[in-house]
Amino acid sequence: MKEKILDLFTRDALETARANNTYRTMRLMESPESSRVKIRMPNGASQEQILLASNSYLDLANVGELKQAMAQAVLEWGTGSGGARLTTGNKTIHQELEEFIAKFKGEESAITFNTGYMANVGTISALCGKNDFIFSDELNHASIIDGIRLSRAKCFVYKHNDMADLKRVILAAKAEFSTREMHAENGTATAFRGLIVTDAVFSMDGDLANLPELLRLAKESECLLMIDEAHATGVLGKTGRGLAEHYGCAHADVTVGTLSKAVAAEGGFVAGKQQLIDFLRNRSRSFIFTTAMAPAVAAAASNNLRYIDTHPERVQSLRENVKFFCEALQHESVNVVQSPSAIVPIVIGDEARALKISAALQDAGILIPAIRYPTVAKGQARLRASLMATHTHEQLQTAASVISQTIKSTN
Ligand SMILES: Cc1ncc(COP(=O)(O)O)c(C=O)c1O
Repeated sequence: MKEKILDLFTRDALETARANNTYRTMRLMESPESSRVKIRMPNGASQEQILLASNSYLDLANVGELKQAMAQAVLEWGTGSGGARLTTGNKTIHQELEEFIAKFKGEESAITFNTGYMANVGTISALCGKNDFIFSDELNHASIIDGIRLSRAKCFVYKHNDMADLKRVILAAKAEFSTREMHAENGTATAFRGLIVTDAVFSMDGDLANLPELLRLAKESECLLMIDEAHATGVLGKTGRGLAEHYGCAHADVTVGTLSKAVAAEGGFVAGKQQLIDFLRNRSRSFIFTTAMAPAVAAAASNNLRYIDTHPERVQSLRENVKFFCEALQHESVNVVQSPSAIVPIVIGDEARALKISAALQDAGILIPAIRYPTVAKGQARLRASLMATHTHEQLQTAASVISQTIKSTN
């Protein structure tokens, strides 16, 4: 009887996923994350692979002095934080981390969350309620979408990076707001509240949001602007400070980021005006109702971010590697554009074919996962390559040749 009830909830979804080639399993890695890793193959054997799939863009997880510093923090602070930030969990190391994030990002203040996912969900749902309007790029990350759903605000999705479409939906929302106000029963006027939200680097395409134009539109339409710099921090701009440094323009009102990708620790953050941070500390449920991140993790995030600050050459090596790899692929007639970030999508289209190519690449010692629906749209399955500052040109050249041959020979 019990199995039957579980079937009701789960069986159809699993069968559909298997039939559509979207059923998910997990790869097992037997070594730390670096440009070369050891993978447990389906037959149980270990195989060395060139890793072209990591979010650890600067490869900081393997820097000796940073590993030592984290180990030292465990010895000093113990293994866990013991409480929520607003009860007993708030240690000096958490505060130091937030102060450094604010400094690194050139903002008044910052607040950390346990993950970037929680930062997005907790920020959007705290800022917006059911009477508000949110304007969201159609390719935004799932954590932004979940934050919008939780907020119950009216959401207008605009076409990817299409500023004319964004303007259109803002006007539509303002018209809807005026009608609503006209029919309001209690007669007290409320202000229009709109939030524009976008990834800074789009995680499956590697392209960038048009920050200068977004700033202009946000100002013109009196909306708040929020950007998610998950794949931008440590990557974009001369010193890895993100999208504003890349464009040489002003910052968004709300900058979200993660400490788990280029920073190679774990956690999320929001940086902005002191008033914004005070508000989130008081209202963001994913900040309030959870245990503070382990102090050693906060220490690692803090140390690693300081390392990025003093080693801008790592950011430059990453950029050079991306340029070299895109050119090598183009030279091998693989259809890619020069990526402005660390993410290089190689679009295949068909889900089954993308899986087949990814499996063949793994057999040949190159690890690039196939990204499929629902992470990307149906028929847009792709190999999502992401680069590290420590890949050698030799590794990248080998990978480009093997990718080209594998795509040609897999139909
Ligand atoms: C654009 C974007 N935002 C947020 C997140 C969530 O960050 P975290 O892994 O720290 O939860 C991710 C990836 O995981 C992401 O790609």
